[in-house]
Amino acid sequence: MERLYKALENYSKSDYYPFHMPGHKRNKAAVNGNFPIETDITEIEGFDNLHHPEGILKEAQETVSKIYGTKESFYSVNGSTAALLSAVSAAVPRGGRILVARNCHKAVYHAIYLRNLVPSYIYPQVDEKWWINGGISPNKVERLLAEYPECSAVLITSPSYDGVVSDVKRIAEIVHEHGIPLIVDEAHGAHFHFSSYFPVSAVELGADLVIQSLHKTLPSMTQTAVLHNCSERVDSNLIRRFMGIYQSSSPSYVLMASMDACMEKMQTEGRQMFRNFTGILEKTRKRISSCRYIRLVNPEKGETAVFDYDRSKLVFSTKYASITGSELYHMLLEKYHIQMEMESEYYALAIAAVGDREEGFERLCEAIEDIDREEALREKKKKWEEQDEKAVYPVMNQAMLIADAMEMPCESRLLEECVGKISAEFVYLYPPGIPLIVPGEQITGQIVKKLKIYKEKGLELQGLEDYTGSKIKVVRQENLQDKPDIQNL
Ligand SMILES: Cc1ncc(COP(=O)(O)O)c(C=O)c1O
Repeated sequence: MERLYKALENYSKSDYYPFHMPGHKRNKAAVNGNFPIETDITEIEGFDNLHHPEGILKEAQETVSKIYGTKESFYSVNGSTAALLSAVSAAVPRGGRILVARNCHKAVYHAIYLRNLVPSYIYPQVDEKWWINGGISPNKVERLLAEYPECSAVLITSPSYDGVVSDVKRIAEIVHEHGIPLIVDEAHGAHFHFSSYFPVSAVELGADLVIQSLHKTLPSMTQTAVLHNCSERVDSNLIRRFMGIYQSSSPSYVLMASMDACMEKMQTEGRQMFRNFTGILEKTRKRISSCRYIRLVNPEKGETAVFDYDRSKLVFSTKYASITGSELYHMLLEKYHIQMEMESEYYALAIAAVGDREEGFERLCEAIEDIDREEALREKKKKWEEQDEKAVYPVMNQAMLIADAMEMPCESRLLEECVGKISAEFVYLYPPGIPLIVPGEQITGQIVKKLKIYKEKGLELQGLEDYTGSKIKVVRQENLQDKPDIQNL
């Protein structure tokens, strides 16, 4: 069968007249702007249906499965978000318990909310050298599964946003001893499979469901992702059911064709492209590693549950400089016109990917070296509250279920009035979209202090109804008696 993206290209040049959706009718004159409307079709003859694939879309998804070596793989046109929602929903019965890494993306918490699940959290270790999250310790997983044997699944994020990879193989063994599936959010690891320069993918290490955003690290359009089913532990029909619920009934053919074209590119030229890319990347890492103040993070394997590290993440620590991570981010943006992926208190993060050009790496190296030289002349001042606020995600007391806290009567309170109260909202920095506060958690003085520092430093708090970040919605005190203690659930 013809490849999806080729079939679509050929169709766009044919004389078939579209008496069907979308309303632009592939007519450039009906549209402002330059959009790929020639290939923007719907489920017409010969183009199959993502929610009932029997033809070209079935084959396209089978190609993904063959490339990655999975039992089956599903396209997602709603990113890893829909894939995570589906994976959690399929693996854990409504109202069930799930063991999740506390540094998970908000989509995981949204699944917990929608399915009224009871979460138990594994906190990542903290890498004190760089003040980033380390990995998820297999021993902790073992301990928590012994404590909560009713868990129906375990979910971890590996690699983390910063590139830290946990010991997925060992964690999978432990999880399987309990007869339950391991879900790995590998949204940032779709490229692992294509070069031995990178860590081994969770797909090859015993994980049951693995979620990857193609758009994050491979040459594919934004919103494209895949859900890999690697075993028999989660019912395929349930995965299919939830992928059908969490995605549009009119999935974009432009996006699906982009995934297909990306897979073909990887099959035919991937090896060479990755050889070139990793060669330049390694040279860049070596060159920047000689900077003294702006330091390239390279977490120690074996420490803080760091099993491996994805070197395509260029994390520039400002711990040894006079500037903060945010200041570095803005210097790179404003003076050097380099847009980084993320800013944080202690570092700025660049994502390198196979689509990068040598010119980009050269500009990044020159800018970092320039800033590093200036740093040598600057007096080092004390930044942030660095001595006592190292924990990236301080341990929070879970007082209520997410769904209960979000749906009970609540009130908005100023940050300083929230201490001791139960949050009815998520609070996170975006990116990375990992909640600092989850609804149902008791707000501490420590976290309020952290939020205020973030605000002062211009980092944007998201998730709150109050866009200024001054107030949090908390559960009204008088409603607390009605709810069961989460510890007894
Ligand atoms: C770790 C992680 N998981 C999941 C997601 C959601 O992915 P998507 O944007 O493809 O929906 C993100 C997005 O940033 C992420 O960082």
